[in-house]
Amino acid sequence: MNGGNLQEQLFAWFQWFHRHPEPSGAEHETTARIREILRGIGITVIDTPLQTGLVARVDGKSEGPVVALRCDIDALPIEEHSGLSYSSGNAGYMHACGHDFHLTAMLGAAALLDRRREALKGTVKLVFQSAEETGVGAKQVLETGVLDDVREIFGLHVDDSRAPGVFSVSAGPVSAAVGGFRAVIRGKGGHASVPHECIDPVSAAGQLIVAAQTIVSRSTDPFDKVVVSITHVQAGNTWNVIPQEALLEGTIRTLGTDQFKTVAERLGRICGGVDRISGAVTEYIWQCGAPSVDNDAALADFAAKTAESLGLTVMPAIPNMGGEDFALYQQRIPGVFFTVGVGSPQTTHHPGFRANPSPLGAAAGFLAELGIRSLERTA
Ligand code: NI
Repeated sequence: MNGGNLQEQLFAWFQWFHRHPEPSGAEHETTARIREILRGIGITVIDTPLQTGLVARVDGKSEGPVVALRCDIDALPIEEHSGLSYSSGNAGYMHACGHDFHLTAMLGAAALLDRRREALKGTVKLVFQSAEETGVGAKQVLETGVLDDVREIFGLHVDDSRAPGVFSVSAGPVSAAVGGFRAVIRGKGGHASVPHECIDPVSAAGQLIVAAQTIVSRSTDPFDKVVVSITHVQAGNTWNVIPQEALLEGTIRTLGTDQFKTVAERLGRICGGVDRISGAVTEYIWQCGAPSVDNDAALADFAAKTAESLGLTVMPAIPNMGGEDFALYQQRIPGVFFTVGVGSPQTTHHPGFRANPSPLGAAAGFLAELGIRSLERTA
């Protein structure tokens, strides 16, 4: 493959992956195809116990440090309505978060790194991570120990709001610390005509919902970025029975991991307060969570300068309240997460999302260059 037709090759790979989206943790066909492409380039896949996703390595001619590039590979349970000629062929699933773009750019970086092995002052590990959407993939990769020797790590995401080819990178937090919770309010059910003989979990749930909305308005600094949303409410099944219990689910998100604990504790105190007023007993359970993606300042500067030296357009990142498990790598390894604009008419996670593939070559070149220069920095 020469430079001229890399972009063409990337388009073909991208269209194939877009047509074959698979759910988190079940990316079998995707993994097999990535493996096949890497084998074609001549790149070694490392043996790990990972069921889906894989980690490959590109070794330079000389011994040296190890750095890593990471992408995710899973799709979403969304029926695609993008109008693209290469729309999903797997009914009910869609690459609606651009992970097909990420992994294709990584394959391009793999091809570029392979061509420049002579210039590599160590090893670049390439992480094709499964199950980002369900928040479990990064943990699985870290648990294999395959990244234990990695000194720096870089990851990318598409940005639907920015023009194709605009790269964004900033120091500090760029995604939210995210927690999902479940509260089961246990009351005492009975005939709706005798509320005084019951403990009504529905009115307790109502108090909890309203009180939870005072966290952002009354308990956090107006300059802090915090989201508290109750997203699932369930209680009872008819009009004349006070039910035994009510279920609430929701999410807390903070930009930066520090405020998260404060907000979570405040919600716990509200549950306790509602219990005291109502006589119900609330069981408050955390279902999932990830810290904020928090970019290392020196590395963010290095990444921005690297992009500029390649003639790419670089802007400060637009932080968002989404979650991203790249944060888990950063808890162990200094790292930077950047975005590349793909100018979509609809946001990610929308059935009409379309990533413009034109910046695939630039993203691949940037990733490869980060790998090469990161090795020079750490050698
Ligand atoms: Ni995503």
